[in-house]
Amino acid sequence: MFKRKKSFSLEEIDNGHYKVTYRGVPCVKCPFDYVLYQMIIEEVKPDLIIEIGTNKGGSALYLADLLEVRGKGQIHTIDITDESFEIVKSHPRINLFHNGWKDYDLNLAAGFSKILVIEDSSHSYRNTFDAINKFAPLVSKNSYLIVEDGIINDLGRAKEFGGGPEKAIREFLNNNSQFLICDKWINFFGKNATFNTMGYLKRIK
Ligand SMILES: C[S@@+](CC[C@H](N)C(=O)[O-])C[C@H]1O[C@@H](n2cnc3c(N)ncnc32)[C@H](O)[C@@H]1O
Repeated sequence: MFKRKKSFSLEEIDNGHYKVTYRGVPCVKCPFDYVLYQMIIEEVKPDLIIEIGTNKGGSALYLADLLEVRGKGQIHTIDITDESFEIVKSHPRINLFHNGWKDYDLNLAAGFSKILVIEDSSHSYRNTFDAINKFAPLVSKNSYLIVEDGIINDLGRAKEFGGGPEKAIREFLNNNSQFLICDKWINFFGKNATFNTMGYLKRIK
């Protein structure tokens, strides 16, 4: 007879999240964060989402579909490779950039009024810190700079990533008082029950 487990581990959720697909496209996010994202989009109503780290494009597709339902908005998704699925490439709300975030011209965001930025690339401390410093000025007041995968610390992998996103966030916040960690999203399902630990940064001024 089936016996229900009384608990499950972070490692099991981590293993599962690598297998998630959205409309058949791999989409590497923690289940809790999908729910938060759709609420954040409803709250912010962005007309531009910049995503650093496309991979196969599942997250860009998910976000683009949410924008499509609202009838407004574009995604600029940036990677260093071109591995996204055809359904992603052909989505009218998705614009793909393949030369890495350093080559992204910030002027491409001119003319958009509500901008949300997601950093989901290599997760190394240095890369995360540099990327969020470049893109933070684009984030609109009352919108978010979302820094993915601080969870690597809880998974015991921070050293591998030079301290990872959490270290980058801490240092970034020291010099950027216009952002604060938004407890509403961080603690939505329980304290830091997200893979984006410390990573929902709200622009308050
Ligand atoms: C964790 S995956 C992105 C996952 C995707 N956002 C999703 O949720 O399905 C990280 C991606 O970042 C890309 N990447 C690494 N360095 C980058 C850089 N300098 N600029 C842009 N993308 C980069 C990698 O090639 C990889 O595809």
